[in-house]
Amino acid sequence: MEIQFLGQNGFYFKLKDKHIIVDPFITGNPKASNISADSLEADYILLTHGHEDHVADAESIAKRTGCTIISNYEIVSWFGQKDIKGHPLNHGGKWNFDFGTVKYVNAIHSSVLPDGTYGGNPGGFVIYNDEICFYIAGDTALTLDMKLIPLTCPKLDFAILPIGDNFTMGVDDAIISADFIECTKIIGSHFDTFGYINIDHDLSKKKFEDRGKELILMEVGQKIEI
Ligand code: NI
Ligand code: MN
Repeated sequence: MEIQFLGQNGFYFKLKDKHIIVDPFITGNPKASNISADSLEADYILLTHGHEDHVADAESIAKRTGCTIISNYEIVSWFGQKDIKGHPLNHGGKWNFDFGTVKYVNAIHSSVLPDGTYGGNPGGFVIYNDEICFYIAGDTALTLDMKLIPLTCPKLDFAILPIGDNFTMGVDDAIISADFIECTKIIGSHFDTFGYINIDHDLSKKKFEDRGKELILMEVGQKIEI
């Protein structure tokens, strides 16, 4: 599967020929000036929670493409008032879409929408089909609930974990998270976008390596095959 980093927790990939965008924060992100939200095709947008640095471009992309937003009930309802299609989930629930199964899992964080509307509880996604299984944690602290993922989902091929600290877990906790979810291939997210979450790339990668794991840090706009 090819996956592109859109900055912050934004990712773009194709599963079963469906274009999927996660947490688009492109237009207001100075680190993402090399990509344009207007150029992305979308069949689905997955939103982990309501914060601006995750939902910023969702409305414009959804209105242009007619795609479906997958998120928690409160966020899907908020976009529904703007005549945007959605599929609501809540924690522990999953649904079989035409690209695979999506399970909405726990995250420890907060979730308010840009206009102050309650954004439900934040979450992460485990996405799987007959070819691949991966976890997008969203903004979260390290939590013991992550241990439920290998008990309830297929074996993970890789996971996207926040590593920037301050607003989410940092590198050291993310390494423990990788143990909890029984996954050794980690793509980092939620780092370097603003001052509070700048990280030392070499040191972060070395810490993962010392624990027998791989940390992949992508440049904004970069695509990798995983
Ligand atoms: Ni957040
Ligand atoms: Mn965030």
